[in-house]
Amino acid sequence: MNLLSLIAPAKINLYLEIVGDRPDGYHELVMILQSVDLADRIDLKINGSYSITIDCSHPEVPADETNLAYKAARLMSEEFSEAFAKYGGVDITIDKKIPVAAGLAGGSTDAAAVLVGINQLWALGLTQPELQTLAAKIGSDIPFCISGGTAIATGRGEQLDPIQDLGNLWAVLAKYKDVAVSTAGAYRAYREQFGSQYPKDPETIRARAARVRSEPIVSAIAREDAAAIGQLLHNDLEKVVLPENKRVARLKDICQQAGGLGTMMSGSGPTVFTICETEAEAREVKQKIRNNLDDSALELWVSEFSSAGIQIAVCK
Ligand code: C5P
Repeated sequence: MNLLSLIAPAKINLYLEIVGDRPDGYHELVMILQSVDLADRIDLKINGSYSITIDCSHPEVPADETNLAYKAARLMSEEFSEAFAKYGGVDITIDKKIPVAAGLAGGSTDAAAVLVGINQLWALGLTQPELQTLAAKIGSDIPFCISGGTAIATGRGEQLDPIQDLGNLWAVLAKYKDVAVSTAGAYRAYREQFGSQYPKDPETIRARAARVRSEPIVSAIAREDAAAIGQLLHNDLEKVVLPENKRVARLKDICQQAGGLGTMMSGSGPTVFTICETEAEAREVKQKIRNNLDDSALELWVSEFSSAGIQIAVCK
């Protein structure tokens, strides 16, 4: 086998709470992450040389060593130098469908696909938890992208606790082509505004994660109560991203007015999503948003909740 194609799904945040500061400079988070079927396609080809190459037609995706997918391949080459010497490096081709810098983990899911793919191509036999431990070294969302589905994520976002899958729900995703948000910038702005209110005691911060299973949205997910889930969506980062991006705040209002069960910004934004019970409802909501917001920069997708993380589509 020297060629693999992988499907790398996006994620949305049904819940994102910033608990406080961590000694490593990150934030302690409590999140509920959900895969959706909007996905990139990653082709990996063993190239028989000691190089890693990256190719992506999307103008905003860097085709160099700053790309998370490249970092994932380099990490594997460093961790498994014998396999790298035996099989050679990889040519990575990214067919980008997930919008960039959008709060949908587009870069993270591409990196997750590279880790899963190289594990296959180099016959490493790593388990999913082993791959997720490696993934956490290069990004907080990458471990989730590997396994996908519906999960509670705590710590930096890398500690996962899968919960009941929320199949059969739909999301309308809305994003302006010309608005991008830096994740690091959003967390920095949050710390500047709310840092003085963070709990100082590390025990209090860590104990928050232990209570997550009694969160109302977690029991709504367990009951598969879609209406309650829609009402309980939450994202602390909205408090800093929406006031800075008035168009996105307006987009959220318009999405809310268009129907569905509930609307929220995903991750650090600027993508806004509305959850719906059926595909027909999602298509209706999408049309209403389009009718009510005449802006050629607005992109809309209808996407189904997915129980899958990285999937191997073709191997040759
Ligand atoms: O881990 P990742 O590289 O995806 O995170 C991007 C940035 O978001 C980090 O550099 C950090 O500034 C911020 N972040 C944070 N706390 C987290 C996750 C991310 O402050 N738990």
